Amino acid sequence: MAFSKKTIKDITITNKTVLVRADYNVPIENGKITQDYRIKMSLPTIQYLLDKNCRVIICSHLGRPDGKRNMEFSLAPVAKHLQKLLGQELFFIPDAIGESAQKAVAALKPGQVALLENLRFYPGEEANDKEFAQQLAAYAEVFVQDGFGVVHRAHASTDAITKLLPSVAGLLLEKEIITIEAAITNPKRPLMAIIGGAKIADKISVIERFIKLADVVVIGGAMANTFLLARKMRVGKSLVDVDDVPTAQRIIDMAAAESKKRGFVFYVPQDGVVADKMD
Ligand code: 3PG
Repeated sequence: MAFSKKTIKDITITNKTVLVRADYNVPIENGKITQDYRIKMSLPTIQYLLDKNCRVIICSHLGRPDGKRNMEFSLAPVAKHLQKLLGQELFFIPDAIGESAQKAVAALKPGQVALLENLRFYPGEEANDKEFAQQLAAYAEVFVQDGFGVVHRAHASTDAITKLLPSVAGLLLEKEIITIEAAITNPKRPLMAIIGGAKIADKISVIERFIKLADVVVIGGAMANTFLLARKMRVGKSLVDVDDVPTAQRIIDMAAAESKKRGFVFYVPQDGVVADKMD
């Protein structure tokens, strides 16, 4: 399966200053990262750029701090962890824009890497604000989109910025798209889609697509609670998206209709553990 967009491998990138949009929206508890998969998966792109002697500035969001600085959502723990994984010094810049951030970025040397503070500390990010994007764009000569989980968002660091800088895909974005396209266009059978995460709203079209396409769809993660609630099960204090219960019901009905037509299986968790706290 070919990837139809240009990637960092298709352009001359040696010695360039590059702004990489990553998706470091990772779970953090008491300052500790509890799941670093997304950070690990971002390493090949960063390493490729460092090997090409680039100055690498990474930006990301974390959580939904709603345009305000809230240290609960600081990317500082991610910077610490990323530095360890990279095995080289990483400069954490405690702002994403402004004079001190500009100075820190300007001090970066070829082969060095920096991470900006959470983009969503600024209202301009989610507003897809051109001026905010302009401030980010001013750091770099090339923009690299490598955050698969955010490409559906029209935010300053995913949309507005692409109008201001030459933009290409990173290696992770390329890999994710090739993988999902292969599963959709030419699947090996039986095809099972396991879909998890917390939010149904963002994944409705993916779930619907796989109900039509796959042999088995398995719902996992916190999202499963919303489906269980739609089936009138008691889920206690488990994470649930109450607003999405009607959507979950609609998806359950759609899956049931598909099962009647062919040997399709829609699977939500059958067993649970009841406890009075999560630890
Ligand atoms: C995710 O974790 O789903 C992505 O990082 C997007 O986060 P968002 O739903 O808060 O935009």
